[in-house]
Amino acid sequence: MSYQVKEIQTKPFEGQKPGTSGLRKRVKIFQQEHYTENFVQAIFDAVDPKGKTLVIGGDGRYYCPETVQTILKIGSANGVAKFIIGKDGILSTPAASNIIRKYKADGGILLTASHNPGGPNNDFGIKYNVSNGGPAPESVTNKIYEKTKSISTYKVIELPPIDLGKKGFSTYGPTNVEIIDSVSDYVQLLEDIFDFPLIKNFVQSRSNEFKVLFDGMHGVTGPYGHAIFVDALGLPESSVQNAIPLPDFGGGHPDPNLTYAHELVERVERDNIQFGAASDGDGDRNMIYGKGAFVTPSDSVAIIADWAAEAIPYFKKGGIHGLARSMPTSAQIDYVAKKKGLECHVVPTGWKFFGNLMDAGRLSICGEESFGTGSDHIREKDGVWAIVAWLNILAYANQQSPNELVGIKQLLEKHYAVYGRSFFSRYDYEEVSSEGAQKLVDALNEHISASSLAKTTHTSKSTGQKFTVAEVSNFDYTDPIDHSVSKNQGQVVRFDDGSRVVFRLSGTGSQGATVRMYVERYVPASAGPAELNKDTQEGLKGLIEVALEISKLREFLEREKPTVIT
Ligand code: G6P
Ligand code: ZN
Repeated sequence: MSYQVKEIQTKPFEGQKPGTSGLRKRVKIFQQEHYTENFVQAIFDAVDPKGKTLVIGGDGRYYCPETVQTILKIGSANGVAKFIIGKDGILSTPAASNIIRKYKADGGILLTASHNPGGPNNDFGIKYNVSNGGPAPESVTNKIYEKTKSISTYKVIELPPIDLGKKGFSTYGPTNVEIIDSVSDYVQLLEDIFDFPLIKNFVQSRSNEFKVLFDGMHGVTGPYGHAIFVDALGLPESSVQNAIPLPDFGGGHPDPNLTYAHELVERVERDNIQFGAASDGDGDRNMIYGKGAFVTPSDSVAIIADWAAEAIPYFKKGGIHGLARSMPTSAQIDYVAKKKGLECHVVPTGWKFFGNLMDAGRLSICGEESFGTGSDHIREKDGVWAIVAWLNILAYANQQSPNELVGIKQLLEKHYAVYGRSFFSRYDYEEVSSEGAQKLVDALNEHISASSLAKTTHTSKSTGQKFTVAEVSNFDYTDPIDHSVSKNQGQVVRFDDGSRVVFRLSGTGSQGATVRMYVERYVPASAGPAELNKDTQEGLKGLIEVALEISKLREFLEREKPTVIT
C-alpha cells in the first residue's frame, strides 16, 4: 500500500515530564488535540527508533486502543522497523517486560497508570521501557522531557487502523506489525520458573481444605489468572473473581491492599479460603491474604527468599545471587540473607533501583513494602509471579509435612519462630498541605543536624514501653554498579532496640502531598509464640505513639488519623 509521511504542526505542552512510572495524567488531558501525539513523538525523538523493534501493550484501561493506533501512525512515520503488539493492545506490565526480553526488542511502550482508577474521568499513562525490559532510566526520561519542551512538529502516516483483535503479521506503511497472544508467553515463563506439577497435585488433592481465590480487580491480570489457576492448575472457575478486564476497572480502585481489595478479604473470611491473592491494574503489584492471615509485603519477600532455593525450580537451578529491598521495607529479608550468607542490598523506593543489580548478576529476589515483589526473571515487579511463588512454596511445605495442613498462617508462624519477626506497618497521610509536609521534613532535618533527638528516651502512655533514640539520619544511596547517587530518600529514626520509624514523601501522589510513616519493631524468636504471633497494630502500638509524638506529625499535618493503614 502506498503511504505518505506527513508533518503536523504543534506546540509544546507544559508538564510532560515522565517519572520512572511514565507520564500519568487524567484521560481528559491526554485527549487534548496533539497532547498524546507530542509525547509519543518526543519518545521517538529521544530514542531514535529507526530500524528498531518495539513492543506495545497496555493494561486495557480507557484510551488504550486509541493510543495504540496513535503510536502506529507516529512510529511508522519515524522509521520503526517492527511493532510487536499484545492482542487488543493488552499486555500486563510484567508480560510486556518479558516480551521485550524474550523477543530481543529494543524497547517498549506501556500504556498504563498502574493502580490508579481508570475511565474517561480518571487516569491514563504512557511509559517507555528499554531493552532490558525495565523502565527507562532517568537519563532517557529527562531526554524525552527536553524534547517535549521544544517540539514543533510530529510525523504521521495516516492509514486505516490495524485490527488489534486479530493475531498474526501485517504491515502499517513501512513498518511490520505482529499481533501476539497477550497471555501465552507469560504463562510459559511461569511454567519454566515454578513447579506446576507439584502445585497442581497439591491444590487438587487438598481441594477440600485448601481453597484458592484470585482477584483480578477488573485489571489486566484476569486472563492471566484464568489461564494459570483454571486452565493450567485445574482449579474451578469460582477460584477467580473480577477476572474480566474493564476499561474503568468496574469503577474500583485496582490496588491490592486491605482497603481496596476488601471484596477479596471478605470472601476469604466468609468462605474459609486458605489462599487468597490479588493483583493491581497493570499486574505488577500483589497482595497475599489467607483466612485470618494478611502477609505484609515485607514478610512476603522474606519468605519467598527463604524457601526459593529449595522449592522453586528456577532458583534451584540458577541459585540465588543476592537479595534486596527498598529502604522503608522491613528488615525481615535481611535476617534471611544473613542466615544464608547472601548479600542484601537496601535501595531507595522505586523498582528501577533493582535493575542495575540484576543486570550485574548480583540480585535474584527483591521486594518493596508497597506491594511489589519480584525477581530477575524480568525487570519489573510481578504480581502473578509472587502469587504463584507462594503457591509453589506452600505446595512444597505441605509435601515436607504431609500430616498437617500448612497454610499461610502456619508458614508465617514457622518463619517467625526461626528468624524472629519485624512487625511492620505503614501510615499514609494523603493530600495533606505541602507546607505542613515541608514543616515535618524541616523539623526532622533540624534534629538530624543538631543531633537533638539522639539519646532521648520516650515512654508510650498506653503500653509503658520505653524507646530510646539511637540516631536520626537521611537515607542517601550510591548505586554500586554505576555509582550514581540519590540523596534524601527518607528520614530514619532508629531506636536502641533496633526499632525504627521512617518518614518519606510519596513520589506518586497527584494532589497536594502524601506523607508516609513506616514503623518497624523487631521481636527476636526467643520471645516465643505469644509475642511473635500478635496482631500487627498491637505489636506496634507503643512505637507508633512515640513516633507520632516525637515527630509532631499530627500538629504539622493537622491530621489526627492516617488516611490508609497498610
Ligand atoms: C511505584 C513504583 C514502586 C514504588 C512506589 C512508591 O508504584 O513502581 O516501585 O515503590 O511507586 O510510591 P510512593 O507513592 O511511595 O512514592
Ligand atoms: Zn502497577
